[in-house]
Amino acid sequence: MAASLQPLFSAMTFLLLIASLIGSSEAAGIVQYWGRGHKEPSSLAEFCRREFATDVNIAFLENFGSGQMPELNIIHPWPSSSDIESCQNNQTKVFISLAGQPNLTSVEDAEEVAAYVWNTYLGGESSDRPFGTAVLDGVELHIHSGNTTYLDDLARALKGYPNVILAVAAECPIPDPALDATIRTGVVDQVRVEFFDNPSCQFVPPNDTSLLFRSWDNWSDYPGVNLLFLGIPISKDIAPEGGYIPPNVLVYHVLPYLQNSPVYGGIMVFPYLHHEVNFQSLLRSYARAA
Ligand SMILES: *[C@@H]1O[C@H](CO)[C@@H](O)[C@H](O)[C@H]1NC(C)=O
Ligand SMILES: *[C@@H]1O[C@H](CO)[C@@H](O)[C@H](O)[C@H]1NC(C)=O
Ligand SMILES: *[C@@H]1O[C@H](CO)[C@@H](O)[C@H](O)[C@H]1NC(C)=O
Ligand SMILES: *[C@@H]1O[C@H](CO)[C@@H](O)[C@H](O)[C@H]1NC(C)=O
Ligand SMILES: *[C@@H]1O[C@H](CO)[C@@H](O)[C@H](O)[C@H]1NC(C)=O
Repeated sequence: MAASLQPLFSAMTFLLLIASLIGSSEAAGIVQYWGRGHKEPSSLAEFCRREFATDVNIAFLENFGSGQMPELNIIHPWPSSSDIESCQNNQTKVFISLAGQPNLTSVEDAEEVAAYVWNTYLGGESSDRPFGTAVLDGVELHIHSGNTTYLDDLARALKGYPNVILAVAAECPIPDPALDATIRTGVVDQVRVEFFDNPSCQFVPPNDTSLLFRSWDNWSDYPGVNLLFLGIPISKDIAPEGGYIPPNVLVYHVLPYLQNSPVYGGIMVFPYLHHEVNFQSLLRSYARAA
């Protein structure tokens, strides 16, 4: 093969292999984040057309509790309601992430925040809906710091509303200091664990999967973990403290192991797959046909 074709061939092989592996597991998904990176498509609808994602997080809603209005943090162009609906029409579920520093002071405070999120972004009603009539599918608690008391009550309150998918983005050391109580409630649908920037529980190059697998096994058996996602960085520079897994290792060594777990849910790619590689629609048909 000509040297210049090599990178393209590898990328294509990688994506096809991922597709077939992921497609072989019924529940498997690919979670991605929109608006966090560079070189992205110019609109969310375009992102959903070109990227292969079963779940996309579109914005961070930061700092909440104590009567504080959470601030909407979007780096990239504002998604319109039709952008969001076009993703949903293509079977991509759309999430908002609650992030930053929470400061909930009571169960009632947690319930107020849940009601605010429901009315402003989900199936409720409000005169101030940043994404208009679009109804998002779920909420991700992307919390690594702040005062996390009553976060479990927030989770229960959110799940008290109809058809809300609840996810958390945790870090791999167990127990997760911010989200442990929330995970243990059992109401969390998806536990997305960041197996990167955490030397005690991540992949070690060139091919040492032992810490990663031990941590994965611990998470698989953990109370409240219903569906578990392998969170990985898309490149080395995303995770300065490590955890990047080269595609061939991911495909041949990591995913086959994870898929033995009854709670395997798929992968979470931070922030998103390289959309330069133009095989996303092929990927969609592979995974959806499974
Ligand atoms: C958290 O809320 C309490 C009560 O409203 C307030 O006294 C405290 O300053 C807040 N802490 C932070 C870090 O915002
Ligand atoms: C869904 O995806 C297909 C293929 O990627 C694209 O052609 C189509 O326009 C998309 N539909 C919507 C509603 O976005
Ligand atoms: C966190 O908030 C709770 C409830 O307001 C409070 O009792 C607790 O002292 C706070 N913890 C810290 C470390 O500030
Ligand atoms: C791991 O990598 C080393 C160095 O590249 C190699 O010698 C060894 O065969 C590899 N082991 C496995 C199990 O792939
Ligand atoms: C896995 O769990 C065992 C037993 O609780 C603990 O000793 C070990 O440190 C954990 N390992 C990882 C990588 O989380």
